Amino acid sequence: MKILGIESSCDETAASIVQDGRILLSNVINSQIDIHTVYGGVVPEVAARSHIEVINPVINQAIAEANLNWDDVDAIAVTYAPGLVGSLLIGTLAARTLAILKNKPLYPVHHVEAHVYANFLNKIEPKFPILALIVSGGHCQIVLFHDHGDYELLGQTQDDAVGEAFDKVAKIIGLPYPGGPSIAKEAKNGNPLAYKLPKSKLSGKYDFSFSGLKTAVLRAVQREVGVDFTFPSTGLAELLNSTQRIDFAASFQRTAIETLVEKTKLAFYDFNPKSVVIAGGVAANQELRRILSEQIPIPIEYAPIDLCTDNAAMVATLGYYHAQKKKPTSPFELEVIPSLSMTKTTWSS
Ligand code: KG4
Ligand code: ZN
Repeated sequence: MKILGIESSCDETAASIVQDGRILLSNVINSQIDIHTVYGGVVPEVAARSHIEVINPVINQAIAEANLNWDDVDAIAVTYAPGLVGSLLIGTLAARTLAILKNKPLYPVHHVEAHVYANFLNKIEPKFPILALIVSGGHCQIVLFHDHGDYELLGQTQDDAVGEAFDKVAKIIGLPYPGGPSIAKEAKNGNPLAYKLPKSKLSGKYDFSFSGLKTAVLRAVQREVGVDFTFPSTGLAELLNSTQRIDFAASFQRTAIETLVEKTKLAFYDFNPKSVVIAGGVAANQELRRILSEQIPIPIEYAPIDLCTDNAAMVATLGYYHAQKKKPTSPFELEVIPSLSMTKTTWSS
């Protein structure tokens, strides 16, 4: 079964063809990073406009690169939740229109759940129960999957997602957007023990909080450059020298990763899963992969970097498992749900 996946929930317009939920036939990603860099973050209206411009060519390219034509496509899967409403609308409208015109079954999928399914494209499929650490710009949660479509949320961030913290800290210390890769790069040369940053204590055993860590970096930078807490964060970067900048990058990264690893380790020993996967944009972080692998006694599974950040292959892969278990959704009725949490299963029909 060959499924066309379509993804447009944030700032990537992507389309991909995956066969039988395992074999990647094409993976086209049009990133808007260059467009949003000038603003230092994603501007929703700009994102939606860019999706409109490229969605058709991206879909056509995915089909062409898989050496297929429309007759070979068995179904369409599309991200319908969560994400920016204007962005989600473009992908779902394209998918709905194509499902009607080409007479294909349509499977709407949850973006955060789909991130986990990038791991089913690995040579070795993860085995249930799967403990998933899902870490991206919009999400930070630990989920236990008992089976396809049967999962429980163990914990989540109470404020900022970890990727969001990378992006905000990068801005404070003067590194380009997106902050995750630029902090990871600078951190390689910095001293991770240069600055002691706090870890939040939370009542939920597997919950996270990253807003305090971001503020702690802000205060430490202000202290380091000799200004008080009223000094605007936008003016701090130019006062830091390069040693301070890389040391802040390394110290922040170490603290954020240690927090993620500690909670994942707790959940691992409490639930004894057969597989541990990391998913989402922050799963591209090499230090997270390394430290988690050191701390967990079974191999950690993660996708190649271009399947960790937003893509449509993960959407097509999850769509395949939906197609095994569910009826397709009417293209006339599909609506987007911008803030659908993973606690509510998307598999009930
Ligand atoms: O999954 P994703 O592409 O989009 C969302 O669904 O949010 O994740 C993007 C996030 C951004 O916050 C970005 O800074 C972060 O993933 N990221 C990283 C790395 N690569 C991307 N964070 C840490 N280290 C990286 N190497
Ligand atoms: Zn994502």
